[in-house]
Amino acid sequence: MDKIVIWGPNRLEGQVSMSGAKNAALPVLASALLASGPCDISNVPRLKDIETILSLLSHLGVQVDRKSDLIRLNSDSVRCLEAPYDLVNTMRASVLVLGPLVARFKKAKVSLPGGCAIGERPINLHLDALEKLGAKITLDKGYVIAEAEELKGAKICFDTSTVTGTENIMMAAVLARGVTVLENAAKEPEVIDLANALNKMGAFITGAGTDTITIEGVRELKGTSHSVMQDRIEAGTLLLAVAATGGKVEIQNCDPHHLDVVIEKLLSSGVKISTTKNSIFVESDGAIQKMHVQTQPYPGFPTDLQAQMMVLMTQAQGTSLMTESIFENRFNHVAELRRMGAHIMIDGRSAMIEGVKTLSGAPVMATDLRASACLVIAGLLAQGKTEISRVYHLDRGYEQLDQKLEKLGARIERRAS
Ligand code: EPZ
Repeated sequence: MDKIVIWGPNRLEGQVSMSGAKNAALPVLASALLASGPCDISNVPRLKDIETILSLLSHLGVQVDRKSDLIRLNSDSVRCLEAPYDLVNTMRASVLVLGPLVARFKKAKVSLPGGCAIGERPINLHLDALEKLGAKITLDKGYVIAEAEELKGAKICFDTSTVTGTENIMMAAVLARGVTVLENAAKEPEVIDLANALNKMGAFITGAGTDTITIEGVRELKGTSHSVMQDRIEAGTLLLAVAATGGKVEIQNCDPHHLDVVIEKLLSSGVKISTTKNSIFVESDGAIQKMHVQTQPYPGFPTDLQAQMMVLMTQAQGTSLMTESIFENRFNHVAELRRMGAHIMIDGRSAMIEGVKTLSGAPVMATDLRASACLVIAGLLAQGKTEISRVYHLDRGYEQLDQKLEKLGARIERRAS
């Protein structure tokens, strides 16, 4: 298992370009199951989670050919309708094959994803919605089996906003008979990207990006080509890294509007930021005012940037407050930050972060994807050497982050261990 070693503190200077979005690529790749004929998906980042879903699609019988950042998929040869435990357990987003398999192949057997480091993360909302579309749902030895001769359009109101739940049901509904209306739908940009890809295949989806999405069922979808949107969480991670370590960086190939609430928070805390249509200029001298942040579904503050923002809060003047409203256990990074000298007190879903002069480098352990990004930022600003173990967590969702940071002047290296 690789380690990442960082010597701090570092200022970050220069330009960095974002990769395609993991959380858009995953549902778009799964949606290829719905289309007859080849689908060409480009701007797909090279990540562990992408390899996992491509392995799953191949397991189902999809022809998968990858040339550079373009992936050609053809699902006309699908023969297997079962997503096995070992693949779903590796990555819970594998449940995204459930909706497409039932819609086009009338049956799916998918291992129920276990919990993960950040929470129980059930899929009850996915299954309840599939039942409303007419699927018969049974649970058997840790697997969910969904079957339907033909799905029928329905009105579905999600109890809580669910990103992959909205995506799964949108994909199930595109081949249903009649119209489906999703209320309290997730508004994340990745949902819009998926809807755009499905409409290119011949679907009739309106309202993506709002809390009410309407899907008029069609008889068949055809293969198309689609370029995945840029990764807004990677851009937000780099933005917070510069704000925390100090420096002057142009973040290219991103949509600043996807980060409106994050930029607003940083501007109010004293960070200098300006934007163009597809880039963010950020400059910081490290002097940060305290902040209060609460994670919310889009367009609120993203839970996927909570850990990274918390590192910045350790450098703020005064005591900041972070509340994690989405997941029940997403403070795994706090214990590691404390080992680097952070003063953080947790009370339920809230954390009080007292600004400290600096952090000290230390050996730390990554526990989940975004916690590992948080520890990288902490290593960049800490005095001395930080060794981060279990960086396979980082490689699930960031394409060459260590190399991108090195180009910005970070003293960072990856070591096989
Ligand atoms: C997506 O996960 C993202 N993953 C997550 O990113 C992200 O943190 C999350 O949305 C929230 O924005 C992908 O898109 C692949 P949810 P998802 O369903 O869809 C509860 C990362 O770091 N819930 O929106 O699984 C759930 O427990 C990852 O890239 C139910 O109770 O999240 C949570 O509390 C981590 N029942 C809340 O809803 C359900 O059936 C939001 O979860 C579904 C969800």
